Amino acid sequence: MATLTPFTACDLLKINETNLDVLTENYELEYYLQYLLKWPSLVFKTETPDSEVIGYMLGKSEGVNLDWHSHISAVTVSKNYRRLGIGKLLVDQLVVSSEAEEQNCYFMDLYVRTTNAVAVRMYKNMGFSTFRRVVNYYASSDDAFDMRLPLRRDTKKTCLKRGKHTAEERMLTYDYKRLQ
Ligand SMILES: CC(C)(COP(=O)(O)OP(=O)(O)OC[C@H]1O[C@@H](n2cnc3c(N)ncnc32)[C@H](O)[C@@H]1OP(=O)(O)O)[C@@H](O)C(=O)NCCC(=O)NCCS
Repeated sequence: MATLTPFTACDLLKINETNLDVLTENYELEYYLQYLLKWPSLVFKTETPDSEVIGYMLGKSEGVNLDWHSHISAVTVSKNYRRLGIGKLLVDQLVVSSEAEEQNCYFMDLYVRTTNAVAVRMYKNMGFSTFRRVVNYYASSDDAFDMRLPLRRDTKKTCLKRGKHTAEERMLTYDYKRLQ
């Protein structure tokens, strides 16, 4: 049995099992603490009855006006507990928190490696659409799909249409040098 509970700073000492995984993003300690301070309702975990962390969601909210949205910075499930519905549970909970009055976001988005077939399939099955492909998004030069899920507030699903981009215009090149 897995329980969904808030993520605390002490849980950072228990995420080796989930993070020792090539597809799981690993960040510096300050990065996680920033999320806990700024977006406590968008950061949570699943744990076993003996308090083993077996999955977590690291989410945030950002943007202005119609671009106000929540973002999945990391979601992961420990290898021994995959394919049991925990990943879906974590994403479903972020939808609930993002639609709650405190956040009231228009949509949810995320970046995922185009080669991460399992995660892409999970998101598509949960109603996410590929908004654009971002070339060289990852430091490894992998491309990312920028995927979006309209939330209840975005009644006309404008987050998927805004800008009337053609498919080619939606191919964005992520320029690391420009950001350094
Ligand atoms: C992606 C991840 C979070 C899914 O977690 P999970 O608990 O195994 O997922 P669930 O059991 O909730 O499955 C949800 C859906 O994902 C897809 N899926 C999950 N595992 C799959 C597999 N081995 N093969 C094919 N599809 C799979 C299915 O569509 C599944 O729905 P279904 O069971 O109704 O068919 C997990 O594989 C993981 O931690 N991966 C490494 C980190 C990662 O890639 N994170 C996403 C980065 S954006």
